Amino acid sequence: MSCSEIRPDPACAGLPPALAAVFAAGIPLTAPELASRCVLLDAGALDTADWSALAEPGQTCVFADGGPQAARIAAELQRHGLAADTPAARIDGEAVVATGLASLAAGAGTLVVGETVRLSRHYEAAPAAAPAAPGGEHYGPADARRLQRLLAGRRDMRHFRRGEHITPETLQRLLQAAHHAPSVGMMQPWRYLRISDPARREAIAALVARERDATADAMGERAAEFLRLKVEGIRECAELLVAALPPDDGTVFGRRTMPREMVVCSLACSIQNLWLAARVENLGLGWVSMFEPQPLAELLAMPAGAMPLAILCLGPVEAFYPAPMLEIEGWRSRRPWQDAVYENAWGEPASPNSAASKA
Ligand SMILES: Cc1cc2nc3c(=O)[nH]c(=O)nc-3n(C[C@H](O)[C@H](O)[C@H](O)COP(=O)(O)O)c2cc1C
Repeated sequence: MSCSEIRPDPACAGLPPALAAVFAAGIPLTAPELASRCVLLDAGALDTADWSALAEPGQTCVFADGGPQAARIAAELQRHGLAADTPAARIDGEAVVATGLASLAAGAGTLVVGETVRLSRHYEAAPAAAPAAPGGEHYGPADARRLQRLLAGRRDMRHFRRGEHITPETLQRLLQAAHHAPSVGMMQPWRYLRISDPARREAIAALVARERDATADAMGERAAEFLRLKVEGIRECAELLVAALPPDDGTVFGRRTMPREMVVCSLACSIQNLWLAARVENLGLGWVSMFEPQPLAELLAMPAGAMPLAILCLGPVEAFYPAPMLEIEGWRSRRPWQDAVYENAWGEPASPNSAASKA
């Protein structure tokens, strides 16, 4: 980690530009009872950063050129124990935004995290998370843009960093997000089995390998090309989950005509929540559907009527694919979204005034 501890002397010539910017913004690097030391980290060194050390209290962390990575830095620091409202600032020349860590938007410049930011005249405490108003929270255009970015940046991941783990608190947050999903008749037909036993993980990997071969056999002329694709990260991922449908509880509301589809859709909604919640914590998730459900149900001692629907590989990744991996590998491409929108009748292109044709 290219990280050096410094005890700054403002009079010192040749101060690194990032520190000069911090001084110019009126943020002291050390201050009695707030920070006894300062850590300077280059944004290029984030991949190898010791996040536990960076999240320690009593110091000021300066991330030179860390502004564009604000979301990642905030997520890592919170994952390692810093509170969401820890004072943090982004300094881009004269422009200084100083608020709570979790509220800091990404952008150009240097990032400073630590209690000393509180002393800057620019500091405005982030509003405390208000309890949801009766009519629900109100979101602005910036929230909409961030959500759109999150949706576009979610990826199905098959490559994970080995030997990593996810804290129980993080896993709990993700599973709570999964549990906020909509469901038919509020049936909540999802169960998540955490696979912590290495032998069981290995048995699941074997089941998937068998199905991958069977899939290749069914592929015809693209079999060899298919076999070159990585289709799961079961052995490497930090956490392995199996998402399953419980035995049917007989809910009729909303599913009289399509009982099976609606229950599957509900579980899929829950998995999508998990997917997005993981992405926003910079964790990858890969959905694996290549398995025979019955042997997996037996392996996991599921009751009659329960069915595993997805094997989910979850954990830190080296980097998110910039586009769907199947697209990068030339297997298939995402179609223009307008091709999936019709007007009034199947196959009818949208009219000139519709949303689809305006884009
Ligand atoms: C229901 C479902 C099942 C999937 N099963 C697999 C799978 O078995 N193996 C795999 O590599 N990807 C699987 N995927 C991921 C898709 O390949 C991926 O979502 C798609 O290529 C688009 O990429 P993106 O999710 O990164 O946008 C599955 C996705 C869904 C929604």
